Amino acid sequence: MNKIFLDQLQKLKKDSTRCKKKFSNQRVDLKSDIFHIESEKIYLDYSRNILDQNTLANLTRLAKILNIKEKFKDLCSGNICNISENRKVLHPAMRDTFFDLDENTKKEIKQHKKKLKKLSEDINSGKFKSFSGKKYRNIVSIGIGGSYFGTKMVYEALKNFSTSDINLFFLSNLDVTEADELLSNLNKDTTLFILVSKSFKTPETLENARKVKNWLKKGNVNKNIMKSFIAVTDNYQEALKFGIHEDLIINLWDWLGGRYSIWSGVSLGLIIAIGYKNFSRFLQGANLGDKHFYSKDYSENIPVIMALLTFYYTRFFGAQTHLILPYNYRLRFFVDHIQQVEMESNGKSIEQNGKKFSHLSSNIIWGSNGICSQHSYYQLLYQGNTFIPADFIFSKKNESGTKDNQDKVFSNFLSHVETRNRGFTKKEAEDLYHEKFSSSGLEKNLIIKNLMIKGNKPTNALLLKDLSPETVGMLISFYEHKTYVLGLISNIDSFDQWAVEIGKITAEDIYKSIKSPMKSHNSKNSLLKKYLDKKF
Ligand code: F6P
Repeated sequence: MNKIFLDQLQKLKKDSTRCKKKFSNQRVDLKSDIFHIESEKIYLDYSRNILDQNTLANLTRLAKILNIKEKFKDLCSGNICNISENRKVLHPAMRDTFFDLDENTKKEIKQHKKKLKKLSEDINSGKFKSFSGKKYRNIVSIGIGGSYFGTKMVYEALKNFSTSDINLFFLSNLDVTEADELLSNLNKDTTLFILVSKSFKTPETLENARKVKNWLKKGNVNKNIMKSFIAVTDNYQEALKFGIHEDLIINLWDWLGGRYSIWSGVSLGLIIAIGYKNFSRFLQGANLGDKHFYSKDYSENIPVIMALLTFYYTRFFGAQTHLILPYNYRLRFFVDHIQQVEMESNGKSIEQNGKKFSHLSSNIIWGSNGICSQHSYYQLLYQGNTFIPADFIFSKKNESGTKDNQDKVFSNFLSHVETRNRGFTKKEAEDLYHEKFSSSGLEKNLIIKNLMIKGNKPTNALLLKDLSPETVGMLISFYEHKTYVLGLISNIDSFDQWAVEIGKITAEDIYKSIKSPMKSHNSKNSLLKKYLDKKF
């Protein structure tokens, strides 16, 4: 890290000390007319944070020092940005590109999209038939990690935009219970399986694929059951070996990372469900997010501000987690996707050049639907001593339900956003005690102390215009960019995930030793021994 960057960190450290002091003694109201950003689809109110205008200026200066936009331009123009794997990183080009990109890549993306459009239309119209000549009624998208979370999340988010009479299911787990449960409700003649695996090597996905193949084979001797499989992969040869028909393989590229692949054929099941037109709208929304990220000043830039705030709290306030609370039911799988995006991208301890560091480059992303979580862990959010910055998300317009119901959900959303900031003072606690609990016979002082809440808990509120494909696309692209900026701050490669391989290899070794009685017999691993102990 260069000296200018390190000096800037020192300034921010001072800012944090000043703000901590100022905010610990009193409630500070930041002007929401300054600390907010409005984009086409998403409004960010970040006025409930522990900062002042000086801090904000120093944070945005840090972004300038990092030269984020130039780096993003490099990425979008096809320069090698995934250093450890020597790969380009071109997922933004899947939505569209406003940078110079080589013609060949542009052409390939265009063909890829054309194929998705045609295939999804043929499946929906019944032109593309099952091995027994019937129209498909069910689709199972088999995949895990980046070949599952994002597309599942968006499918749930955009269910109101479904244009298909075909049901979509997902199959991910290695535990065969999921496959058994699912297959028991499906008809072999009318179910299409999409094998989504960039590597076509992921054990969980292959196990499920084999299970399905055997299931289809039973009772269908001499039938071309492989007609009911489509593969979406970067490993054409392995897909062929599995028996997938040549023309039913949709190619991916090594420059499209799994957790950033939602914008491609990985989402074929989703595309069939919502139609290619709506999928295009989803891509356009993400492209709007890209334009916002690239064109807006850092102080007017939603993903940049979100990243800078996360960085500020992680580095100077010791925040270890970041909470995300979508209040709309349709966004209930959002956190699952963002967990992979942020933690698989930035959960690292070496820089791009291999240099070790000890600070936190990513924190733990967690959360769930806001309404349900209110009755679970909000007690800790208010009175526990853990420091937890949070994003509260709510869509102003809901595609289903009544206006009154929306008003109720919004009231809950705002209530918690506000209470985290304002807290609940002694005076308010006393008044509440007199109003509601004085006749309870419980000890007055104890109840009053229990009702008091310290405020100034850092909170971003993201108000979405609606839950349209455009808005959902933009929202996801903002979190992708936030992740990218955090990666740049720590100078890491946000596009590899080497450590994940270790777990895979170890699991394979353990499985082999279970299958070899000699090896497992000699093992000193007490858990393995217990697992194999017939008497337990
Ligand atoms: O194990 C992690 C991982 O490699 C992710 O990065 C990826 O999204 C997931 O597995 C699935 O990989 P694939 O699409 O190759 O099956």
